[in-house]
Amino acid sequence: MKIHIVNGPNLNLLGKREPHIYGSQTFEDYFKVLVAEFPSVQLHYFQSNSEGGLLDYMHKIGFESDGIVLNAGAYTHSSVALGDAVAAITSPVLEVHISNVHKREAFRHHSYISAHAAGILVGLGLNGYKLAIQHLVDMNKEDVKMA
Ligand code: DQA
Repeated sequence: MKIHIVNGPNLNLLGKREPHIYGSQTFEDYFKVLVAEFPSVQLHYFQSNSEGGLLDYMHKIGFESDGIVLNAGAYTHSSVALGDAVAAITSPVLEVHISNVHKREAFRHHSYISAHAAGILVGLGLNGYKLAIQHLVDMNKEDVKMA
């Protein structure tokens, strides 16, 4: 099973970016935890600060990946194009946000991704990525049926 984690802008700064909101672990370190947790899954990690870079990557993997865990960062709230890309591709996308965006500024309450995502995990810290992967694995086993 092949699962891709895609992180958007500023998420390369995890560990040093506003640790009171996003924690103090780098994603590279957390990725090692995920790889150890899911030995039977081929996990891939991609991060880009550019909208075009994210779009190109989603197009590349979006018809062959068994699942995509997408944290589009601030583009979640601004990018019609990323929402369109999630609608266009065939791989299931789980939208993840480390922080509870609904507890934060009003501009973070709207997502262009959510309407096209298979599911959403919000405010669970980095654990949201692990739970999202677990869900994709379960879906693949057909243990969990999608609504
Ligand atoms: C975020 C929430 C977004 O509002 C913010 O712009 C981010 C990170 C999160 O993971 O909580 O960059 O997606």
